[in-house]
Amino acid sequence: MEYPQLITTTRAELEEFLSGAIPQNQAYLQLLLEAMRYSVLGGGKRLRGIITITVCRLLGGDDVNSFPVASAIEMIHAYSLVHDDLPAMDNDDYRRGKLSTHKKYGEDIGILAGDALLTHAFWIIAAQTKDKTIVPQLIEDVALLSGIGGMVAGQINDIASENTEISLEKLNYIHRNKTGALIALSSKCGAVCAKASSSRIEALNLFGEKIGLAFQIMDDILDVTSTSEKMGKAVGKDNDKGKNTYPKFLGIEKSRQRAEDLISEAKELIVDIPNSGFLTYLADYVVNREN
Ligand code: IPE
Ligand code: IPE
Ligand code: MG
Ligand code: MG
Ligand code: MG
Repeated sequence: MEYPQLITTTRAELEEFLSGAIPQNQAYLQLLLEAMRYSVLGGGKRLRGIITITVCRLLGGDDVNSFPVASAIEMIHAYSLVHDDLPAMDNDDYRRGKLSTHKKYGEDIGILAGDALLTHAFWIIAAQTKDKTIVPQLIEDVALLSGIGGMVAGQINDIASENTEISLEKLNYIHRNKTGALIALSSKCGAVCAKASSSRIEALNLFGEKIGLAFQIMDDILDVTSTSEKMGKAVGKDNDKGKNTYPKFLGIEKSRQRAEDLISEAKELIVDIPNSGFLTYLADYVVNREN
């Protein structure tokens, strides 16, 4: 199968699992479930989940272990976007080509839908991972990298650094954490699901860290160079909000070069894995993507 087609197919498989993982009807819970489903099911590239599934398959692991954690990471990613878009944070009205969750359902429901997506993610891992021996490791990694060892750590510093001069070192800290951490997590968890050796797990973690940082550099670039139609979200917002970004520090061309260098370094880390063509393609997609 051609790689673009493989992305489409894997995304569809993941979305079917994701949809089944969130109940549709439950007494007194319609509104919450609807807002959760609106947030997590309506679009998105699914890069994180696709990476988890791909790494696991590549290393000989079983889908029955990777799909729950791939879905959990997509739920946590969706929650991070719902909260990121709130007026108290980036104040964005559009996401994935439609109204952001708080615009559609109100801030109160948006906050709670985010809370529920985060907690439900842990339920999915604990309840649905087939091989229970890997559950403690998955929970440990997901909890740390989504929170104070990753995403939330990056988000707090992103917000606290608005309209403030910071060092390039701190910008890297922000980007590695707010975005790099969940992408590194995706790659690492795929290897954990396949019960790979600790050196291979570490290599895939590092691979994810590098493409994760490149991903946020590209997000910063696309905020300057792309359109809201293509991105499905507002553009030009980083400058308006006084965000610290890669283009602000290095300009567009040097930022793009940095992202490309990171992708080359990442690909070096997986050269010894047989048949890793699709994973290499996903790494290139991070810098070649149009949205
Ligand atoms: C958007 O992530 C937020 C960032 C971390 C830059 P994606 O660009 O992966 O968003 P979706 O999931 O495809 O909508
Ligand atoms: C978001 O970074 C990272 C998250 C953890 C949600 P951005 O704020 O740049 O993401 P977009 O541009 O709103 O998608
Ligand atoms: Mg933000
Ligand atoms: Mg934002
Ligand atoms: Mg952005």
